[in-house]
Amino acid sequence: MKLIVVKNQLEGGKEGFKLLSEAMQNGAKTLGLATGSTPVEFYNQIVNSDLDFSDMTSVNLDEYVGLDGSNDQSYSYFMNKHLFEEKPFKVNYLPNGKAADLDVEVKHYDSIIDENPIDWQILGIGQNGHIGFNEPGTPTTVTTHVVDLTESTIEANARFFDHIEDVPKQAISMGLASIMKSKNIVLMAYGKEKAEAVKGMIEGEVTVDLPASILQTRDNVTVIADEAAASLLS
Ligand code: F6R
Repeated sequence: MKLIVVKNQLEGGKEGFKLLSEAMQNGAKTLGLATGSTPVEFYNQIVNSDLDFSDMTSVNLDEYVGLDGSNDQSYSYFMNKHLFEEKPFKVNYLPNGKAADLDVEVKHYDSIIDENPIDWQILGIGQNGHIGFNEPGTPTTVTTHVVDLTESTIEANARFFDHIEDVPKQAISMGLASIMKSKNIVLMAYGKEKAEAVKGMIEGEVTVDLPASILQTRDNVTVIADEAAASLLS
């Protein structure tokens, strides 16, 4: 794991953008994308750049069950607003949170990932160490699946909703096995709320109790953390 410590999210977004530009120069064609507050500055850097995505494919990590792109809390809406409206891709894939049959949808999403191997994956990290919506305890072998969100995640995400009751209780998420197939992974973490999870991910044991710790087991992982998120590292 390579660690880059930055002053703040703006600097982190710039570092992430540099890594992405290099990856695209080296032929990356399929990007794995994340939502949430973490990648917003990274997406701003992309939007304000000359990079051309018209030949690129994106595959997002996750989507809330029950929300579609017309709902401003859906991840589809988020991606359109922060990136896709400004930088058109050849094709954008997100799980369909409104699928009539979720079992069919998870299999369909796995086939999309198989047909579009991810060259470069961006990740955030939850305070409990989740990546995607792979909550603590998730087996490392799972591919795309329906997740019951933990109380900790619902509380953390309530800041985006009017009422905590409005936060969906389930999501469709790429599994840890799906994420681990990506050729390169860049995980960003900002703020002191992430410091425990970052310490566990980098310096703790590899355990399903902290899903991001699985990233220790592979090459081509870069962590970009601000000073607050890196503050507990020895
Ligand atoms: C989002 C995702 C999540 C977030 C994580 C951190 O697509 O998969 O794992 O990256 O919950 O969220 P923020 O960035 O809002 O702190």
